[in-house]
Amino acid sequence: MSIEREAHWRNVYADKQPEDVSWFQARPEQSLLALDRFEAEPSQSLIDVGGGASTLIDALLARGWHDLTVLDIAAPALAAAQARLGEGSARVTWVAADITTWQPPRQYDIWHDRAVFHFLTEPAQRTAYLRALLAGLVEGGLAIFATFALDGPEKCSGLVVERYDAAKLVATLGPHFRLEASWGDEHLTPWGSPQAFNWCVLRRLA
Ligand SMILES: C[S@@+](CC[C@H](N)C(=O)[O-])C[C@H]1O[C@@H](n2cnc3c(N)ncnc32)[C@H](O)[C@@H]1O
Repeated sequence: MSIEREAHWRNVYADKQPEDVSWFQARPEQSLLALDRFEAEPSQSLIDVGGGASTLIDALLARGWHDLTVLDIAAPALAAAQARLGEGSARVTWVAADITTWQPPRQYDIWHDRAVFHFLTEPAQRTAYLRALLAGLVEGGLAIFATFALDGPEKCSGLVVERYDAAKLVATLGPHFRLEASWGDEHLTPWGSPQAFNWCVLRRLA
């Protein structure tokens, strides 16, 4: 699956400008809201899993964060973010990898995933993701997940997704996580279509 998926996402970013994809947001309001709500500090480390060309890193660099990692299966997405950031990109660690096979070389205080986990429709893929999550997030750390909600779209980027509410995500992630907060949000695509998202903040337990 990995090679096909990599080709799918590489082509998406090769064919489109970052601001022309359905998930584009000029400002990552909900992510920043989640970080502020839990008093996350610029001294903490954060990994944006499947971060693509997201503007979250721009916003965090502007706030003084300096231990930032962006991982994505699509190298062109990372290249687009790097080009946009210019010199600022040198202050970020970039990882081109599939999260279901990646072995974290270190741990992070905060794990951020907007619209990536929901593409894992097979239990084995979710188990593999969870392995990386448990290895890569410190005990007591925060995991921020945004997935399509139960009444959200059935597909994204032409791929079927698994939709979640908080209870389903908690059950899927298992006993090493405690739900701290969840809320719904309506994302508007660049062409004005509403998409129902479910946001969850979870604490990594021992
Ligand atoms: C819907 S986009 C969301 C991008 C970004 N998180 C945002 O909010 O703008 C999904 C992203 O996940 C990446 N992706 C999909 N499957 C992945 C995987 N198995 N490992 C790492 N990245 C993946 C894609 O390349 C794409 O950038």
